[in-house]
Amino acid sequence: MTSTTDWRLNDYLISTDRSNLDVALIHDYLSNSTYWATGRKIEVVQRSIDNSLCFGLYKTSSEGKRQQVGFARVVTDYATFAWLADVFILEEHRDQGLGKWLSDVIVGHPDLQGFRRWVLATKDAHGLYRRVGFRELHRPERWMERPDPNMQENPDYWHPIK
Ligand SMILES: CC(C)(COP(=O)(O)OP(=O)(O)OC[C@H]1O[C@@H](n2cnc3c(N)ncnc32)[C@H](O)[C@@H]1OP(=O)(O)O)[C@@H](O)C(=O)NCCC(=O)NCCS
Repeated sequence: MTSTTDWRLNDYLISTDRSNLDVALIHDYLSNSTYWATGRKIEVVQRSIDNSLCFGLYKTSSEGKRQQVGFARVVTDYATFAWLADVFILEEHRDQGLGKWLSDVIVGHPDLQGFRRWVLATKDAHGLYRRVGFRELHRPERWMERPDPNMQENPDYWHPIK
C-alpha cells in the first residue's frame, strides 16, 4: 500500500506517485470545469490527494518531460471498500482510449482487489464504468447520503437538511 506503480501506453504514463501530481492543474480542472467540484478550494483538493490513492495520467516526451493530462483518485480502506472519484482526462487528450485505460488500470491495481464494494457517482459516463464492472445500485433503497449543510461546493446542487 505504500509502493507506487507505473503503467505505460505509447507516449502516456499512469503513475500512483503523488509527488508527480500537478496539484495546480488538478485544482484548476476540478474547480472550474466539472459539474461536481465547482469552486473546490486548493487546500481541499490537496487534502483529498494526500488521503487517497491517486492515479496521475501524463503525456511524456522523448526528452523525458511529463505533462499531466488526466487524474483519478480512489478513497479506500484497502480491505472492504473503494470509492472512485474526480476522474478526468483533459479535452485535447480525449477519445483515444485513455479513460478506458485509466479505469482498467485502477480496477486492476493489486492493492484494490477482493473488496466487498466499489462505488462511484456519475452524471453521464455510466458506459465507461460498466466496461469495468460497475452497475446501477443493487438495492438503492438501502443507501443514504448526508449533504453537509456547511459544504461550500455546488450550493445549488445540494439541498441541505433543514
Ligand atoms: C469521461 C472521460 C474521463 C472519458 O475519457 P476519454 O479518454 O475521452 O475516454 P475513452 O476515449 O477511453 O472512451 C470512453 C468510452 O466510454 C464511453 N462513454 C460513456 N459515457 C461517456 C461520457 N460521459 N464521456 C465520455 N465517454 C463516455 C465512450 O463512448 C467510450 O466508449 P467507446 O470507445 O466504446 O465509444 C472524459 O470524457 C472526461 O474527462 N470527461 C469530463 C469529466 C468527466 O465527466 N469525468 C467523469 C466523471 S464520473
